[in-house]
Amino acid sequence: MHDCTANSGHSTALGELQDFPTADGSFSLHSVQFGEAFHNSAGAASEAQAKFVGPAELERFRGGEPLQILDVCLGLGYNTAAVLGALPTPAPAVRWWGLEMDRRPLELALAQPSFQALWSDAVLHKLAAIRDQGGWSTPGNEGQQLWGDARRMLSSIPEAVRFDLILHDAFSPQRCPELWSEEFLSALAQRLAPGGRLLTYSRAAAIRGSLKRAGLALRSLPSAPGERTGWSSGTVAIKGGGIKAGINGGEALEQAGVTWRPLSTMEQEHLLTRAAVPFRDPDQRDLAPVILERRSQEQLHCGLEATNTWQRRWRAADANGGIGSTKLSQ
Ligand SMILES: C[S@@+](CC[C@H](N)C(=O)[O-])C[C@H]1O[C@@H](n2cnc3c(N)ncnc32)[C@H](O)[C@@H]1O
Repeated sequence: MHDCTANSGHSTALGELQDFPTADGSFSLHSVQFGEAFHNSAGAASEAQAKFVGPAELERFRGGEPLQILDVCLGLGYNTAAVLGALPTPAPAVRWWGLEMDRRPLELALAQPSFQALWSDAVLHKLAAIRDQGGWSTPGNEGQQLWGDARRMLSSIPEAVRFDLILHDAFSPQRCPELWSEEFLSALAQRLAPGGRLLTYSRAAAIRGSLKRAGLALRSLPSAPGERTGWSSGTVAIKGGGIKAGINGGEALEQAGVTWRPLSTMEQEHLLTRAAVPFRDPDQRDLAPVILERRSQEQLHCGLEATNTWQRRWRAADANGGIGSTKLSQ
């Protein structure tokens, strides 16, 4: 176990960080303050691949328009590294922004030989440049890391910038509701380019509801390799229009991509339960307990179906062979 509380001159909002080995052998961390690991136990590298690289369908950007990427919660840098490492050839011009409040995860990752071994020199140079200079700039390729609270730092990205990909990988909504609020998700959705995609591991009804109200079309990620069987392992939220909407620009391809499918009836009904009450943070300044309490109060008075009634209904359907081996653990 590795305590790096004392070895950083930067933010300690994450509190003590402990090593968190994952099943695919990739290095990850656990934040004592948030009470959560940075990745699932199946693997940091495999999660980046399954939930971000796959649904990004990077082939769409082969030598074409510049690809604009926003990494919400850079952490150790897996998602950014995996996406940059999987760009098609010829590679598109890339403009990248990162949001993150604590420098230590990236510093710790870059000090790990097993992490270094995963990436090409070109990708490692970019990660090191983020660590050392807050970004990089080469012809046709630039990146800028914004250190601080993501809610505040998002607005320092020029208003005209529109992202083709937003990689949203905050801690879970119960631990970090400030980055899953209706208002923050709406601000992210506004920044998507036509056909742009917000990708996240979250399948929570509150998050999907906010993304839907922000005008995005929702798709569901099936379980990733090595994960417990479950009904979904994440969400692809797509902004309508644009030539980048599907591999060939066709609406039909939006319905089912290489790695996603439409929301099932069960998932759509999940959006009508109390679980779908959003996290609200009207001024985008509140602390997590305030946001959680506000949501609890709203859930008490919302009149929506209790989430466990929805669970029981679909468990019964499952028992009757109606929906396959669905697990309704959340
Ligand atoms: C689950 S980890 C991200 C993992 C990362 N994507 C990776 O591939 O390693 C969540 C990250 O969110 C960051 N974070 C938490 N609250 C934040 C906030 N309000 N603003 C910016 N970053 C925040 C934490 O410092 C942590 O690094």
